[in-house]
Amino acid sequence: MDKLWIEGGAPLRGEVAVSGAKNAALPILTAALLTDEPLAITGVPHLRDVTTMLNLLAQMGMAVSMDERLGVELTANRITEPVAPYDLVRTMRASVLVLGPLTARCGEARVSLPGGCAIGLRPVDQHIKGLQAMGAELTIDHGYITVRAKRLKGARICMDLVTVTGTENLMMAAALAQGTTVIENAAREPEVADLAGCLNAMGARVRGAGSDTITVEGVDRLHGARYQVMPDRIETGTYLVAAAATGGSVRLTGTRPESLDAVLDKLREAGAHIETGADWITLETNGAPNALNVRTAPYPAFPTDMQAQFMALNSIARGTARVTETIFENRFMHVQELKRLGADIEVDGNTAVVKGVSHLDGATVMATDLRASASLVLGGLIARGATTVDRVYHLDRGYERIEEKLSRLGARIKRIH
Ligand code: EPU
Repeated sequence: MDKLWIEGGAPLRGEVAVSGAKNAALPILTAALLTDEPLAITGVPHLRDVTTMLNLLAQMGMAVSMDERLGVELTANRITEPVAPYDLVRTMRASVLVLGPLTARCGEARVSLPGGCAIGLRPVDQHIKGLQAMGAELTIDHGYITVRAKRLKGARICMDLVTVTGTENLMMAAALAQGTTVIENAAREPEVADLAGCLNAMGARVRGAGSDTITVEGVDRLHGARYQVMPDRIETGTYLVAAAATGGSVRLTGTRPESLDAVLDKLREAGAHIETGADWITLETNGAPNALNVRTAPYPAFPTDMQAQFMALNSIARGTARVTETIFENRFMHVQELKRLGADIEVDGNTAVVKGVSHLDGATVMATDLRASASLVLGGLIARGATTVDRVYHLDRGYERIEEKLSRLGARIKRIH
């Protein structure tokens, strides 16, 4: 199993090109199920989760091809197996994103129940409630959800809580439904709006994506299209925190600053100097960061996917910070590992109290999930001496060429087998 070896202490300096957003690419890939014509997608990041999704789609009968610049072309003129099996859903929860498009296109979808996952229970009741409101029938047997509908019908759906993939699933289902669907209390994440952009390029009629009310006028068929995936705001944020935590300075290019206002505000509060342009962000640091209280919440508030990285930053900040996680019930698994590097953190329910220490010391630590592993890499970059991050496959789910990008910034990092 691959590990990352990091010799900490070097301030990160230089430029990083941001990759396409994982959490926009995954739903956009599944949107290809909605048409029998080719969907050509550019800016798809080369990540384990993307490969898993492509395998899942290929297994259903989708033709998948890739050009030398990693453009992906998907054609679903025949869907032979509208099924997401346990083995794939177990490794990637986002597999549930096939539920909406398959039901709309094939009248049937069979998806393994997700079960537990490292960062919490993450049920799919809202996805199902929405599909049922559109007239789908549901059965559960042998650990699988089966959804059937002759043709989905537009409906007014009020989500009980804000769910990103839930909103995306229902938007895709509604695109081919008969009549108009209104999704209230919809997720406002930029990735939801990016998926809507792709659906509209395919001939769908989606309005309001990016706000909490999305209206979808169903159409009889969708056509092929070309679409470019938005830049990854969480990757952007992770490199900014890496520079802030190591006392460096970076320029991120090919990014979308307005998609991470809450993160930039926090970094300014930490004492960093930040400038932004249309598609770039620069960050310069000035001494040790100030401690930052953080509370995660749905977009546009502070993202849960940046909580672990800010925990690493707070571990060497001036002062004491309270970090509260409100989205997932078990997303503090990096705490025990950061403590092994010398961080002073106490967890009380869904809040972690982080007392800044003067330095961290390298150690062997184990990654438990994607963003936890990012925080451990940050810990390693800050720490004195060598850190080994074990189970680095978690990192490969969401960060494209991370060792290469960090090395270019001056980090001493290498992959060991
Ligand atoms: N929830 C329910 N019922 C549902 C759906 C969700 O109770 O039917 C709960 C979940 O248990 C959780 C909360 O609602 O407590 C929010 O979950 P959400 O559905 O919004 O999460 P998701 O769609 O499964 C996406 C991202 C996650 C990101 C969250 C929150 C993708 C593929 N994944 O997950 O990304 O953390 O939204 O922003 O878009 C990551 O990239 O590391 C990652 C985990």
